[in-house]
Amino acid sequence: MNKPAFAAVVAAAFVSASSAFAEPQAEVLHWWTSGGEAKSVAVLQQEFAANGGTWTDMPVAGGGGDAAMTALRARVLSGNAPTAVQLKGPAIQEWYEEGALADISAVAEAEGWANVLPASIAGHMQCEGAWCAAPVNVHRVDWIWANADILTANGIAMPGTWDEFNAAAEKLQAAGIVPLAHGGQAWQDATVFEAVALGILGADGFRKAFVELDENALTSDAMVAVFDQMRTMRGYVDRNFSGRDWNLATAMVMNGEAAFQIMGDWAKGEFLAAGKAPGVDFLCASTPGDGFLYNVDSFAMFNVDGEDKRAGQALLAKLIVGKNFQKVFNLNKGSIPARTDVALDEFDSCAHLSARDMAASSESGSLLPSYAHGMALRGAQSGAITDVVTAHFNSDMSSADAVKMLAEAIANSM
Ligand code: GAL
Repeated sequence: MNKPAFAAVVAAAFVSASSAFAEPQAEVLHWWTSGGEAKSVAVLQQEFAANGGTWTDMPVAGGGGDAAMTALRARVLSGNAPTAVQLKGPAIQEWYEEGALADISAVAEAEGWANVLPASIAGHMQCEGAWCAAPVNVHRVDWIWANADILTANGIAMPGTWDEFNAAAEKLQAAGIVPLAHGGQAWQDATVFEAVALGILGADGFRKAFVELDENALTSDAMVAVFDQMRTMRGYVDRNFSGRDWNLATAMVMNGEAAFQIMGDWAKGEFLAAGKAPGVDFLCASTPGDGFLYNVDSFAMFNVDGEDKRAGQALLAKLIVGKNFQKVFNLNKGSIPARTDVALDEFDSCAHLSARDMAASSESGSLLPSYAHGMALRGAQSGAITDVVTAHFNSDMSSADAVKMLAEAIANSM
């Protein structure tokens, strides 16, 4: 063997030896701090520890992750990125383009991710041909949750149309019951808005408006009707809704202080963590209309120095997509596994409904990314829409003015 070749062999042996002995470390930035969320992230912490990893927790409270994303920017700007970050949708590609993300293709290829993830999910995890994030789950956003006893006592069925929802809400209000538990935070307003929009615009209209940002769709009469329904629903929330956290709104439904909540299935994680059973204590149904709004949680690994941290990133990525982890984590989180080969026998009826509807909507072309949860658009555009939604919900702005503002906000954000 000539000298340079020998040196290369020695170097390779050194690298693999040092990574074999490096103790996996990870500082993990996430926003899973509610009861159900904390139980879920603990599953990952335990699995990481059981595999020799040392986890440094960096939780940043705030549903929807806005505060976590602000904290992330500050850390990266100061040259001290966390090892692993809860990150999703086009924000993954945005950070990759900034040169901030590690390529985790070696793990993805060794673990055969391409064979166990649906193409629609795999696409979100790839950046310029490389794997740059690991998916944990599929959350559905367009759900309506209800307190089973309240509905029975008032002779109300789960609404199948928005008119039925409004009729139920009027009846409840007349009986002195708060119809809709809601937390007045911009991302929660956006969550309700996109569920209403999917129902009223239909899947094609939703795609044109919130994926393609088509001006005609954004300013259509149907969009005016979406804002009208939001105005109606503003009348169904209680007086103290402003600023309330989403999990406190879920607790209102749990405790019989309100009948319904419109929220993604992380709300189910709250019900389950409190020992409530679907079909008995609470009911789940998709919000009125066809289609399925998906929200896939994932983790991206940031460029960091140190063998131990890189070993931590590789271990975390591997565990996250692991078959058993995907089952146990999602049983707690309220979502369904991202992997297609995880048996759902231990999952409840809401999860089964989610899996069935996801498959059917994928077939019919109505499987759509959630704009409110950062799956459809880049931050500037989704932020522009949410600003209008929340300004309208919290004022007496007319629907026509809201639609005009929406078109202007999108034009300015491009
Ligand atoms: C979503 C996230 C969920 C859930 C929720 C509330 O954006 O995807 O996992 O945690 O926020 O915090």
